[in-house]
Amino acid sequence: MYRRYLTALQRWTLGLDVWINRVYPSDLNPLYYTGGLTNLFLFVLVLSGIFIFFYYVPSLNGAHASVAYLTEQVPYGGLIRGIHRYSADAFIIAALLHLFRNWFTDRYLFARDSPWISGMFLLLFGGFVGVTGYILVWDERALVVFSELVRLMRSIPLVGERFAWVLQAGPGISDETMPRMLLLHVGPASALYVLLWWHYVRLRHPKVWPPATWVLTSLGIVTLLAAVVPAVSGTPAQPGVQPTTMWLDVFYLLPFWLAGYVPPFLIVAGIGLLFVAGFAIPYVNREDPHAMGIRHAGVAQVVDGNCTGCELCYYDCPYNAIVMVPSPYPGATRAAANRKLLAVVIDSRCVECGICIGACPFEALELPAFMESDLQRRVAEAVRA
Ligand code: HEM
Ligand code: SF4
Ligand code: SF4
Repeated sequence: MYRRYLTALQRWTLGLDVWINRVYPSDLNPLYYTGGLTNLFLFVLVLSGIFIFFYYVPSLNGAHASVAYLTEQVPYGGLIRGIHRYSADAFIIAALLHLFRNWFTDRYLFARDSPWISGMFLLLFGGFVGVTGYILVWDERALVVFSELVRLMRSIPLVGERFAWVLQAGPGISDETMPRMLLLHVGPASALYVLLWWHYVRLRHPKVWPPATWVLTSLGIVTLLAAVVPAVSGTPAQPGVQPTTMWLDVFYLLPFWLAGYVPPFLIVAGIGLLFVAGFAIPYVNREDPHAMGIRHAGVAQVVDGNCTGCELCYYDCPYNAIVMVPSPYPGATRAAANRKLLAVVIDSRCVECGICIGACPFEALELPAFMESDLQRRVAEAVRA
């Protein structure tokens, strides 16, 4: 059932690609660059965030006033604040598109579980950074979001009270609260870059940036939005006073809107379940290679004497499983006699795909247990399907 839906969604996603490729040249199809676009918006967030950081005063009395000063008095301050706000929304939209695209096109299975799991952490941390960002403004909306966040935390059995304490930096709102919020904004935002290293480490030549056309278009859209619909604060937060009306950002603050209708524990449980399901996606319902009759091919082996150090396999392995090391001795063949480098396979990274074997022109790589008959059978099955 699940696979049937996924196949339908895959067809739909690929159909959308075909449709977009009719409008744009295919190398400009923005859906091919959802990861790069997410990365771009994150980069804009970091740059604009550093600018805002210099003016921000993390105290109950200073926070709202410092943001107002930045918006109204600092040259381009309002524009940069708007760029920060709209890039945050664009970041989440791009990250979700990226997630669904990889999901629907099966790019999360087997060796891709590593970018998938790190991606889920990126989403979790990214969402949290957005929420603390709204609180930093310390206007009436920030107060509602903060109070609801504390309420959601408290509803978690056993550890909830402790979490609420950590969030508030004490039993309630105090002078320690805003520095704590700033820490909870900047800390996880910096952690995103550690997670990104994990995200990319198993990908060969990831397209980290979109093409220049899309960089300029994306920057143009967020700048235009920031200029036309500037980011503004509400009236300063006054603990104990409830706002009459306010809007809630659908990308970050949806759970807080729901908090008006649904008990807090259900919201926390719902968010928790969504993430647990997200983390489980690469492992549920995936086909077992043994059940498919595929023989374990064994990790790729370098035939030491034949390797010339040409690096072709190093560039072609999609799983970053081959490294080039200085050759300790000459190779055995004429072509390899003067080699400077030697290919070495990192066993734990090799998924036994056999791509490097096709890449090597010197017959210096092999899959020890790979049987040609397996390959013929699978080709025949694929042709029949
Ligand atoms: C800060 C957020 C993120 C950034 C900056 C980011 C960036 C990227 C980039 C640049 C790539 C390589 C190019 C591409 O395939 O588009 C990539 C690949 C990938 N990402 Fe993300 N990503 C993020 C979040 C996520 C999330 C939330 C998921 C899913 C849970 C995810 C899953 C993947 C997977 C499975 C790949 C490998 C795709 C392949 O090998 O073809 N990413 N990511
Ligand atoms: S078989 Fe070769 S190309 Fe495939 S993962 Fe292993 S080393 Fe990389
Ligand atoms: S492609 Fe073959 S010859 Fe070239 S470095 Fe890799 S193993 Fe050695």
